[in-house]
Order: sequence, then structure tokens, then C-alpha cells
Amino acid sequence: MTSQKSADGGSPGTAALARGQWSDRVLDDRVHRSLYTDPAVFAEELVKVFGGRSWVYLAHESQLPEPDSYLSVTMGLRPLILTRDRDGVIRGIFNRCAHRGATVCRDESGTARSFQCPYHGWTFRNTGELVGVPWPAGYGPGFDRSRLGLRQVNRIAAHRGFIFGTLNDDAMPLEEWLGPALEWLDYWIDRAPDSEVLVRSAAFQMGYRGNWKLAYDNAGDGYHPAFSHRSLLEMAARMGDAKDMSYFGKTPDEGPMKLYALGHGHSVIDQRPAYDGPGSFWANQRPQPGRERFEELIRRQYPGDADRLLDLCVGSQINLSIFPNLLIIGNQIQVVRPLAVDRTQLTWHATAIGGVPPEVNTIRMRTQEDFPAFGEPDDQANFEEVQRGLAIAEHEWIMMSRGLGTGWQETTENGSVKTAVTDELHMRHYYEQWMRLMEGEPA
Ligand code: FES
Ligand SMILES: [Fe+2]
Repeated sequence: MTSQKSADGGSPGTAALARGQWSDRVLDDRVHRSLYTDPAVFAEELVKVFGGRSWVYLAHESQLPEPDSYLSVTMGLRPLILTRDRDGVIRGIFNRCAHRGATVCRDESGTARSFQCPYHGWTFRNTGELVGVPWPAGYGPGFDRSRLGLRQVNRIAAHRGFIFGTLNDDAMPLEEWLGPALEWLDYWIDRAPDSEVLVRSAAFQMGYRGNWKLAYDNAGDGYHPAFSHRSLLEMAARMGDAKDMSYFGKTPDEGPMKLYALGHGHSVIDQRPAYDGPGSFWANQRPQPGRERFEELIRRQYPGDADRLLDLCVGSQINLSIFPNLLIIGNQIQVVRPLAVDRTQLTWHATAIGGVPPEVNTIRMRTQEDFPAFGEPDDQANFEEVQRGLAIAEHEWIMMSRGLGTGWQETTENGSVKTAVTDELHMRHYYEQWMRLMEGEPA
């Protein structure tokens, strides 16, 4: 069988990939259930896929707003403190004491020049350096403080505020790895008139009893909305003529929306062609509390600019998935955090933007309550039901064949593959990258 994607990782072309030890579990059109249920697979992917070989998303720079800010995050299962030192340098530091392994920082975020381990009081600067050991006379002459700092993430890099890390010194540069996904991320950032994006402390945190890949499978899935989110769409239809997402239910493969495989497991669904011109993002949004008064106010105070401002109040109309753990959905940054083979946490970070009147950010917050509250429970219910189904040992395969043999796929100028919006290409595509990472090929 031939693969949909190339082995070079740069573009999803047509060459087959050497599949080594995974060849019996990742086929062209299906994957084996054990990838979602086997704790040994989970343990391996949490090392290799989540940072051991390639980049993973860690946080947004606005979450470290000033010198000496810190934020607790994870890289796979590894707890990290992300710190900004007084010179502005951002580091990823393992939140694991160099003495006997305790969690050094037990807070979510704040500002600190140093961290004192609560167990025996070793103190580390926010650069990771060990600066204090209680009663040092208890250590002999061979004790070298300079060798006992907190271990650091090998490489930290950011693209316009989005911070990623990897433990692989040889990983390709971040922007090369993002590849064609860059222009989609830039579109999302450039919706802010001065490119300033601010992650709000408000976040939806949700957990589900299922494997982390179920969220990634779903993020690029244009097949499910008309069915999984039927109650949401019917509620919106009863309250008005909002079109948002309803276009997934009307022969979506013949419509202008497209799915793109972007290389390295990244993909995007572009819903923008389902809209028509300035003001249409806003006009087609589902009902929101207080919406009419905001619209009146913005039209009165900013005549001539109201359509543009109102479009910024609602979602970006792209669903961008950056493998393995960053999902840009609407105006939100969703982070996928695996906890166990059958347990995952999803965090939806709401964002505000600079360069707009405050009313725009107020109504953006209302919009950002809408989908996670109404729609995400539909998805998470599916994830849990899938995980339950995958427990059946005798029924082994998960199909991802939709789109194969249809002639839908077409390679674009930048090497992306464009296809119909219900194609399961996004899954076939990221599994190529998953295998590269698991096999230890350059990724
Ligand atoms: S484990 Fe941190 S000081 Fe002992
Ligand atoms: Fe969904």
C-alpha cells in the first residue's frame, strides 16, 4: 500500500514511509485500538511524541507578562516551570528538585526570583541555578553546587508569542517545523490589529476518560459537527437564522470549506469560505446574551468600522491543529494534556486582543463561553464512548479511510494537501508524524 504522505516530514506528498515496528498497527486506512488503550504505547509516546524528539506547545508569552513571572506547565507528563528571568529570557525548567526529586514550585503561576523546595529547603534561582542549601557544612568537599541546578529543557523557541520546547538538540528550527502551518497561525495572530494577543487567566478546564489522541482526531474532523452537535445547531436554528457551523450539515464536501494537511502532523479546517465578506462572521454567529446592545453601541460609536470590529468579536473561522497538543479553535487556544492512557485534560484559554475598543474584548469573552459550554460536552461524550468501544479486544481497528480513492486531494503550491472538509486525511497525516517520532526518524 502506498502512503498519502512523504517520509521527509516537510510535506504530505505521496511517498511511502518505512513503518518499522508500527507497520502492523498503523495501516494506510486504519489504526489499531492498542494505540489508544495500551499503557506501554502511552508511556513511549509521552516521552517521544511529547518533547523527546520534536517540539511541543508550552504556553503563550502573555502568560509570563513581566520579569520574574513563572507558570507551571507540562511537557508530556514532565512537570515544568516556565520562567521569564529579569532579563526577559524564557526557560523551561523541570519542576523536580535536584536533591531528591520533590516538586519545587507548587503554584500555578506568579512572580518569583527564586524557588525554595518545600522538602528540605534547597533554593534555586528562576534560571535554575542552585543558590542555597540549608546547613551546607553537612556536605563534604566534593559537593558542587554548580552541578546541582534544576535540569532545563534543551531548547525553547517562540513564534510571535507561542512558546514551544523540545528535549532534542537536533530538532529542526521551530518555524521550519511549523512549515505551512505558520501562515495560518499568522492569520490568527494578525486578526489583532496590532498583533497583540493576550491569554486571559479565565480558562475552561475539562477532563475526559479517554486517550489524548481522540481530541486530536476530532479537532480536524469536519465529518462530525452536523451529527455530534445537532442539539446545538437545532437550538441556534430555533433562535434565529445563524449559519455558524450549520454548513457542515449541507453536503459539506461540495462546498467551499476545505481541510488542509500542513506537514509534520499539523492540519487546518478553513471555514472562512462559508462566509461572504465583512460583517458576515458576526452576522452568522449564534445568539449571545447582550449581543444586540453591543452591536448597537459599536455601530453608533464606530460608524464606518463597525463590521470589521464586530467580526473580531467572534471566532477566526479556522480550526488549526498543531501536532501534538495545540489546537486553535475560534479565538481560543486549546491545550491537550495527556494524563494517562485513558485520561486527558483539555484547557481552553480565552484570548483578548490589543488595538481594539474594550467592548470588542467584552463580547469576545461571551463568544468564547459559547462553544466550550454548549459544544465541547458533545465531543467529550464521544471521546468517552469511543474509549469504551475500544476496550473490546475482539474488534481491533479504528477506520480513517474517508477520502481515500476519491481523488479529492490536491497538493498546493506550499506543499500542503487540500481536500474536502470531511476527509480523514488529518488523521492519516498525523499518524505519519506519530510514527516518525516513535520510530526515531528525523522529525
Ligand atoms: S527534595 Fe528538594 S530539598 Fe530535598
Ligand atoms: Fe466537535
